[in-house]
Amino acid sequence: MNKYFFLIYFLLGQLLSVQAQSVEQVLPGVFKVSFGDPGKFTPEQFRTKGPKEEALKRMPEVKLPFDLSAIKIKVNGRGVIATIPLKNEEQLYGFGLQMGSFQQNNLRKRPIVNDYPLNNLGYSHAPLPYYVSNEGYAVLINTAKYATFYCGGNQPKGNLQFEQSNQKTMLSVDELYQSRGTASGNVIVDIPGAKGVEIYIFAGSDMLTAIQRYNLFAGGGTLPPLWGLGIKYRVMADFKESDVYKTAEYFRQKKIPVDVIGLEPRWQTSAYPCSFAWNTDFFPDPKAFTDKLKRQGYRVNLWEHAFVSSSSPLYSTLFEKSGDFLAFNGLVPDFIDQHTRALFGSYHKEHLIDVGVSGFKLDECDNSDLRFGSARWSFPEHTQFPSGIDGEQMHQLFGVLYQKAIYEVFKKMNKRTYLDVRSSGPFASPYPAALYSDTYDHKEYIEQIANAGFSGLLWSPEVRESQSFRELARRSQTAVLSAQTLFNSWYLQNPPWLQVDRGKNNRNELLPDAEQNEETIKQLLNFRMQLIPYLYAAFHKYETEGIPVFRALVMDYPKDPEVFDIANEYLIGAGLLAAPITGDSDSREIYLPAGNWYNFNSNQKYIGGKRYKVSFKLNEIPLFVKEGTILPLADALPFIDDDTTFNLTCYLYGAPSGPAYLFEDDGITYNYENKLFNTIKLTYADDEVKLERAGAFQPKRYHLGKTVHIP
Ligand code: GAL
Repeated sequence: MNKYFFLIYFLLGQLLSVQAQSVEQVLPGVFKVSFGDPGKFTPEQFRTKGPKEEALKRMPEVKLPFDLSAIKIKVNGRGVIATIPLKNEEQLYGFGLQMGSFQQNNLRKRPIVNDYPLNNLGYSHAPLPYYVSNEGYAVLINTAKYATFYCGGNQPKGNLQFEQSNQKTMLSVDELYQSRGTASGNVIVDIPGAKGVEIYIFAGSDMLTAIQRYNLFAGGGTLPPLWGLGIKYRVMADFKESDVYKTAEYFRQKKIPVDVIGLEPRWQTSAYPCSFAWNTDFFPDPKAFTDKLKRQGYRVNLWEHAFVSSSSPLYSTLFEKSGDFLAFNGLVPDFIDQHTRALFGSYHKEHLIDVGVSGFKLDECDNSDLRFGSARWSFPEHTQFPSGIDGEQMHQLFGVLYQKAIYEVFKKMNKRTYLDVRSSGPFASPYPAALYSDTYDHKEYIEQIANAGFSGLLWSPEVRESQSFRELARRSQTAVLSAQTLFNSWYLQNPPWLQVDRGKNNRNELLPDAEQNEETIKQLLNFRMQLIPYLYAAFHKYETEGIPVFRALVMDYPKDPEVFDIANEYLIGAGLLAAPITGDSDSREIYLPAGNWYNFNSNQKYIGGKRYKVSFKLNEIPLFVKEGTILPLADALPFIDDDTTFNLTCYLYGAPSGPAYLFEDDGITYNYENKLFNTIKLTYADDEVKLERAGAFQPKRYHLGKTVHIP
């Protein structure tokens, strides 16, 4: 009797648990639709910050374009299938970094982590089970399992509207394959193996406010240290201490601005896998080394990956706390476990950060198994970790957990850092980290800047050797207009602008016009240094309001069909539009959205809503300024120190449409979270820009110089 009772009870329970779909508003404009058991390892459980509730409450109330009851979730023997409404005219973006497509309508996307995103399947360094619509909402599936998104176009049977739409006889091959009918219907999400799911919906009055809500829910955007917005230069992996000093002195002597020097694998005794122990043959006294560089205004960043060598002091500590398969023949720490992260982190603090290291390059965390055809470069999906997570879900979370392990050490020390990372994912907006990879061409680098902004990510289009100096200069122009200006010379003896050919560079055979090239690059880098106060203010808005600093045009102009597919231009902060040039040509076509715009170099005025052919010289900045902008540019400095002050010239593009704001704090700690900052308002009156400061932060960092009117 008892047995039957329990059986019925159990079956009823199962039935109820899979059938009850619940909808709740978790915070203003943030809704959660849940069904069944989402499992133990959802991305949200490993978030680094709670939602920015106050900021979310301050956002205007909005209505979703569809009723949440229209979301249908079912669980069957295969897993979860969720169906989310999609209208015909909607444009979808997102899924993290997507190399092959910008708009995602009609595509089948499988955003899973991989360092070699082939064939536009959705594979990515930074996959997010997340998309955003220009109808003004975003959707996040809170899962670490591999999910497939069918972004419209797949129709269930029985809908005659679709079944009868193409009845006529096909005449040609073109006709046979042409797009038939509409993309409307639904987004269908297929999550094999899942027993339930949580779906977050972020409402917005437009696409940008929906993205803001996602970023704020994730904990707000990141505010990098001021020095992080300067220039990072990674030196050759073979460099010993003396070679690094030589390069560091060269930059200062030539007045080439550089803030961070990055060391590549050979700073440690073993790198594939990592020992995390200084190679004292190369760097006999690491503290003296970082101190000396600090005196010259440099911070030090170290390359590493997370896979632990048997020669590492961390090996025995982490042996029981790692997965049952190796990557690069090293242990894979179980970063799900807080204790494991803390052990890994505190080692970094004691042996590296306390020795003067300001940040790390977190390499190889993006499942590098396809590019070089070697399976041992990552752990298999069936790996088991002590926490109970499997390799599949660990892959999806690894980049984020790795950032968490390192970031949380810095946070606890009340010290800001700026990391390089090869993989990221959901809830990563608060991490001070820029994604990078050396796999792509210049065009792809540019497109990822626009792309990353949909999903709370930052992208660093690194500069390496190139086919020609022209190409290198173009790449440098993009780099100075990105989240991180990074020169990755990990296999180059000399700066790439002195010789773009790798072999010749390493034989010290410099280009005949090396000196002139250096002047060109220096001008571009100086512009970056001038832009730092503007960028810092835009990052502050990202941190507090969730507005991405680097945005696709469609975010600010969601109703203008001309911009729906523009990925090779992007906005920076409130008033700038970047339009980098690729290839051999000096010119390109651009589209300028509504409003009037000024070419930053020539000050020529353009009327928006039109296409133009524009050209930029190699030493110019491919940039347009929106009419009405007050653009504060600082005098270019060779590096940012803890007590750097900025002398500002304010450029006025037409009649100002409102004040400009700057953010003033120490630039290196989290004290701004305890109100130790000033906001600076720049307003125009009586023919000049005036500065008003509110807040109690001392000393003053910004000083107002002259006002320049651009007609
Ligand atoms: C690669 C990375 C390069 C460089 C190299 C060193 O994976 O993308 O930038 O750091 O490792 O081995």
